[in-house]
Amino acid sequence: MTDPQLVLAGRVQQALAAAFGAEYATEDPLIRPSQFADYQANVALSLGKRLRRAPREVAQAVADALDTDGVSVEVSGPGFLNLTLSDAWIADQAARQLGDDHLGVPQRAPHTVVIDYSAPNAAKEMHVGHLRTTIVGDTLARTHERLGDRVIRQNHLGDWGTPFGMLIEHLIDIGEEEALGRLAAGDGNAFYQEARHKFDTDPSFEERSRRRVPLLQGGDPGTLRLWHEFIEYTKRYFNHVYTMLGVTLADDDIAGESMYNPMLADVCEELEHAGVAEISEGALCVFPPGFTGRDDEPLPLIIRKSDGGYGYATTDLAAIRYRVRDLKADRILYVVGATQSLHFQMVFAAARMAGWLHDDTRAEHVQIGSVLGSDGKMFKTRSGASVKLTELLEEAVSRAEAVIADRGYDPAVRRQIARQVGMGAVKYADLSVSHDSEYVFDFDRMLALTGNTGPYLQYATARIRSIFRNGSIDPASVTGPILLGHAAERALALQLLGFGAVVGAVADLSEPHRLCNYLFDLAQAFTSFYESCPVLKADDESVRQSRLALSALTLRVLLQGLDLLGIEVPERM
Ligand code: ARG
Repeated sequence: MTDPQLVLAGRVQQALAAAFGAEYATEDPLIRPSQFADYQANVALSLGKRLRRAPREVAQAVADALDTDGVSVEVSGPGFLNLTLSDAWIADQAARQLGDDHLGVPQRAPHTVVIDYSAPNAAKEMHVGHLRTTIVGDTLARTHERLGDRVIRQNHLGDWGTPFGMLIEHLIDIGEEEALGRLAAGDGNAFYQEARHKFDTDPSFEERSRRRVPLLQGGDPGTLRLWHEFIEYTKRYFNHVYTMLGVTLADDDIAGESMYNPMLADVCEELEHAGVAEISEGALCVFPPGFTGRDDEPLPLIIRKSDGGYGYATTDLAAIRYRVRDLKADRILYVVGATQSLHFQMVFAAARMAGWLHDDTRAEHVQIGSVLGSDGKMFKTRSGASVKLTELLEEAVSRAEAVIADRGYDPAVRRQIARQVGMGAVKYADLSVSHDSEYVFDFDRMLALTGNTGPYLQYATARIRSIFRNGSIDPASVTGPILLGHAAERALALQLLGFGAVVGAVADLSEPHRLCNYLFDLAQAFTSFYESCPVLKADDESVRQSRLALSALTLRVLLQGLDLLGIEVPERM
């Protein structure tokens, strides 16, 4: 563990236990970066109140008991503990980090983490909202894997339900070949709207569509074949989007709603049998305590409609039972739009009532905020139709190509860099804002080469690579030792040491934007270092080696961090 903040937290806890008793060994030391020292611990202020002792006295007792190997401590103000690391300690830790394959990322006892993400609907379009659930979910999957967890990706495709009656009839009407070609090309949205229009205006089509639904649910071979084709070709489009984005989702990760169909009757039966579900107005419902609607009426989670049909909630209950019982999940993350918050709260509550979820199996809704257009409304094209994702991604690539047009690359190389920069820009824009807030989709801002953007970080790595290229040095061959003679070297090294803790926090809190902020700060710390500390031209050979080591470590941390964000990095830019 190299993270200074965590190291110091551990030491303050030890000192608290030594000074006041073992029960204080788990007290939060309240450590923050500080202007007056490297860090400040504020625990004495809160503890003083509880112990009815002057905070300064408490702080002094901690300072006296503190293991000060590599750190100096000073009590200040009303009882702050100012903690300053020695240069030698930082340098030594940074050299270890350089020699560590995991770069200081802790390898933890593995948990089984099921991550439900992307989950577009085959019966509708894949919209920008799904882009965001895909990108955020993929980063969480990569991050848990890096920490040693066993990650099970679940793409909960909307591939089942009554709309398929009308979609299959429409497919028959326009001819299989043409229909399937359009679906594979990403025309699913228009296809859906045409079917919907016929359904609303043509009574005989409506009639046929309705008759098709029981055929599908009853497993009629001809109907199932058409449904399969429909899904198969739609999946081609989804896969095309995933490939463009460089997302780790594969066909084996698809666990769509249809997969749970055979389990739904049993799920209802189990819930009814356990007394968790009851019949209300002909429907089978769960009434989780604490959920009320208008007039304080208890709010039902309907799991079997009065006509015997199952819905979204039934499928999600089957899915959560499957994830706990069969996949043996310790933690389940649902990376889904914030608008579905109530649905998940109720599903989780019902699953707890059924005994499927308990304290050591956590389910969490990672709420995804909306993507807005420049008008502040839901993101749409100029014509008002929703945006086709492949076209949006293509546009990102061609705009990125314009940004690097004057760099003199030959066309194939330029195209490749543009793809990496374009996708990196889109992904970073998504990941760098907290996942539950809205953000405005703005090509100019996300493609900017300065500021907290993907291209800026890609450029930062390319710049470090060019140092090594200019010196004909392989960054992998650099080993240090690291010397910290200049304030900018010290600040850079300290920033580098925080990498492992940030990766852990991203996984624990499901907050990828923390990694973005960290990498951005790191790139800036490197810039300040590079501006004041010549690397290849350092006058002293040991200083030169140390600066090369700091540069190599920065490069590796940036590359690993960007990889966790799923962002590819061009060698040159
Ligand atoms: N297909 C759904 C949608 O587009 C998202 C599914 C999310 N996952 C789940 N287990 N409900 O809104």
